[in-house]
Amino acid sequence: MSAASVRRAAGHLSLLARCPDLAGAELVAEGLADLQARRESDAAHEGFRSTTFPRLPSATLGPMLDITFDPARIDVEAAHRFLRTSYWAQDIPLDVLRRAIAHSLCVAAFDHGAQVGFARLVTDRATFAYLADVYVLPDYRGQGVSRQLLAALLGHPEVQGLRRLLLVTRDAHGLYERFGFTPLAAPARFMERHDPAVYRAAAPSAVA
Ligand SMILES: CC(C)(COP(=O)(O)OP(=O)(O)OC[C@H]1O[C@@H](n2cnc3c(N)ncnc32)[C@H](O)[C@@H]1OP(=O)(O)O)[C@@H](O)C(=O)NCCC(=O)NCCS
Repeated sequence: MSAASVRRAAGHLSLLARCPDLAGAELVAEGLADLQARRESDAAHEGFRSTTFPRLPSATLGPMLDITFDPARIDVEAAHRFLRTSYWAQDIPLDVLRRAIAHSLCVAAFDHGAQVGFARLVTDRATFAYLADVYVLPDYRGQGVSRQLLAALLGHPEVQGLRRLLLVTRDAHGLYERFGFTPLAAPARFMERHDPAVYRAAAPSAVA
């Protein structure tokens, strides 16, 4: 392993120490170290994206699901069925979500071929990331699925050593605290442009 990847791994482990519930995720870290080693030895680098994330023991983190980063396996329509009714992305057009997913680092959980959970990071893969669109289908909630997804996504080798990660949530603060997220230390420094009606404005019926 290169010096850079050793440094990244050390950073990851120090994050694990601070966030016990990057939890069960020492297992994830081991899987990631394997993936990282494989990736570095893969000159073409193409193999990584199609690697299915190692399964985690159900006793530790819930049901046995396939967790994948593979863009070819992400079910955009399934994500759209959930997200278009969510409180944060209501009415999002399918083509807008498709573009968002294409330009994000995405992770999804599958049970017998059906996508049951999803999350994505909008990121430059060097300094910053915004965590978005985290969901788990109702029948799969309360079993650690979102924790598996977040441990995989936040442990991804391409998003280590970032200076800042942001997210917005109405009520799931407890989930994200487990991964080291805290309320804004200096909210007065943050600004936003927010247009909650933008998806409705973009809908075909609104244009007609
Ligand atoms: C939030 C959500 C993704 C959690 O998924 P999940 O797979 O049920 O969560 P997990 O089983 O991995 O456990 C979540 C942990 O976070 C905690 N948590 C904190 N806020 C929560 C919330 N609003 N909803 C669910 N869990 C929450 C749980 O109590 C649990 O802790 P525990 O293990 O000590 O019991 C899921 O309930 C969901 O899809 N909700 C609708 C969409 C949504 O609100 N997404 C988040 C947008 S910011």
